[in-house]
Amino acid sequence: MLDRIEEIRNEAETALGKVGASAELEELRIRYLGRKAELTTILRGIADLPPAERGAVGGAGNKARKELEALLEEAAARLDASELDAKLLADRVDVTLPGAPRPPVGHPHLIARTTRLIEDVMVGLGYTVAEGPEIEHDYYNFTALNHPEGHPARMLQDTFYVQSHPEVLLRTHTSPMQVRAMETQPPPIFVIVPGKVYRRDSDATHSPMFHQIEGLAIAEGITLADLQGTLLHLCRSVFGEEREVRLRPHFFPFTEPSVEVDVSCFQCGGSGTLAGGKRCNLCKGQGWIEILGAGMVDPNVLGFVEQHGYDPERVQGFAFGLGVERVAMLRHGVPDLRRFFDNDVRMVGQFS
Ligand code: DAH
Repeated sequence: MLDRIEEIRNEAETALGKVGASAELEELRIRYLGRKAELTTILRGIADLPPAERGAVGGAGNKARKELEALLEEAAARLDASELDAKLLADRVDVTLPGAPRPPVGHPHLIARTTRLIEDVMVGLGYTVAEGPEIEHDYYNFTALNHPEGHPARMLQDTFYVQSHPEVLLRTHTSPMQVRAMETQPPPIFVIVPGKVYRRDSDATHSPMFHQIEGLAIAEGITLADLQGTLLHLCRSVFGEEREVRLRPHFFPFTEPSVEVDVSCFQCGGSGTLAGGKRCNLCKGQGWIEILGAGMVDPNVLGFVEQHGYDPERVQGFAFGLGVERVAMLRHGVPDLRRFFDNDVRMVGQFS
């Protein structure tokens, strides 16, 4: 019996010396000191032994148990320390690394950015920025812009009308704000009007909703040359310093004379041909790109705001209207205008 106790003790000591994880240690504790362990059973059976053996077996058994308990504690302390070391090593944080980058928060849409670019240029020339209603009265959209009742020019634009109120419509251009702005402020006036406009139209270069920027300059002695100089400055700021502009005669009901304005092509430099003699695809070999409509404000339009200080005999000026999508498409080579409004981040995310 005494030999067996010694054996158990030695076996346990060897096992505890090799233990590598706390789960294993717990198994050893149960195996050697648990309720069903051999040593426990021996100690519990001491009373049944012949009286002569009791003292020796009890003494050796208890001694062995105490030793094993001490060894277990030692092993536990050793394991705790090494497991903590391993954990600290695995959890290591390098506090000298730069912090996590901020998640991306997006950016303004290309149409908003193009609008702001043009606004910045015009504000630099002393213009103020005004906005107007998108649901407009026929009077401002047509009548006060010199489209007489029943005039065929009203048919030039495919208008969305409010069914129950045929005199109310979605504005087809930002031009109605010319009259609204002049009603609120006497001359001189230098204002631009960015905003949404609506027409019954949809193809690669037309969307039922799109954006325009209107410009209006009224004062004494303003001429067509001022219009040309202003637009030259705007085109050079937007399309590059080498650009030229040219005015072609056109017709708009609210300007006289009216012009369409072309900017020299910024892809071929105005030559119409690309390196290698290929025809320029942007201006279709023309060297010029149509960019906006403009003209000298018709005295008939001023007549509608004469009571606000706009005497057509005394003041005159120019107006222009440009399509923001068209400018953005030209600047960035976007082939289809409708892509601006598909809300596909792969498309809009490119223009940060
Ligand atoms: N409102 C015109 C359109 O949408 C553009 C335009 C032409 C605006 C000539 C003007 C202008 O102010 O003078 O087609």
